[in-house]
Amino acid sequence: MAPLQIKPLHPSLGAEVAGVDLAAPLDAPTRDVLTRALADHLALIFRDQSLTPAQYLAAASAFGPPMEQHYSQHNMPDFPLIGLIWHRNGQQPAEQWHTDHTNREHPPAATILHGVEIPSAGGGTSVASMRAAYLGLPADERRRLEGLTTFNGLDGHADTRPEDREKYGRPIEHPMVRTHPVHGSKAVYFHISKATHVSGMTPEASRAYMRDLLDRMIRPEIVYHHAWRKGDVLVIDNRATMHRAHGDYDRSQSRVLWRIIVEGDRPRLS
Ligand SMILES: [Fe+2]
Repeated sequence: MAPLQIKPLHPSLGAEVAGVDLAAPLDAPTRDVLTRALADHLALIFRDQSLTPAQYLAAASAFGPPMEQHYSQHNMPDFPLIGLIWHRNGQQPAEQWHTDHTNREHPPAATILHGVEIPSAGGGTSVASMRAAYLGLPADERRRLEGLTTFNGLDGHADTRPEDREKYGRPIEHPMVRTHPVHGSKAVYFHISKATHVSGMTPEASRAYMRDLLDRMIRPEIVYHHAWRKGDVLVIDNRATMHRAHGDYDRSQSRVLWRIIVEGDRPRLS
């Protein structure tokens, strides 16, 4: 196989990694290069991967230990650490900008998606750099955000199982700006529908403030749009990005992504 190569795809974030077969074991130097590349580029794309669930889990563990997902009804039978993203089992595409699983004390460092069935058009995933979003805010607003926290819970999907609600529904507080543990940079960090409120604000004011922040922060120049091909693996750094799905595809076609999330550090601002 050709040597590992990393090619940026967009001025703000996103890089394609060539020369890595994720079905084979990854040695320690390769894991280190990928960990650093994720921190630098925030979204990594591996093309033309052919993976069994076990191989996929082994590859994903290069970015951290796979962790349980709280919509357990969508887990892959026999491989409960892999979630199935599939509209035919009743899921709606997550079209709102978000970062994953902020209701956890140690939210995922990365979300990893593998394109297994891809519609002929649409159905992409967009990823925005919250590092660039932070730098794009006026200095006084950056300071304000650095003093705020969010309180997070489950976002109330009607089909949430009681046992998931029990395990993952208690309030968790996170800073609205977090320092990346590998890169050392700061990024804006919140989940508008998992945050019940921002410190010192009513739920209504919190929602309006987060909505306004998203509207102002997320501009085309800080967004990488991923158009899926079958066999792609997309690794998203949840510590410094937000992402969203696009529901603009023909629902008579199948779109199946396998999702793994890997545990990260407790968000902190330093
Ligand atoms: Fe997500």
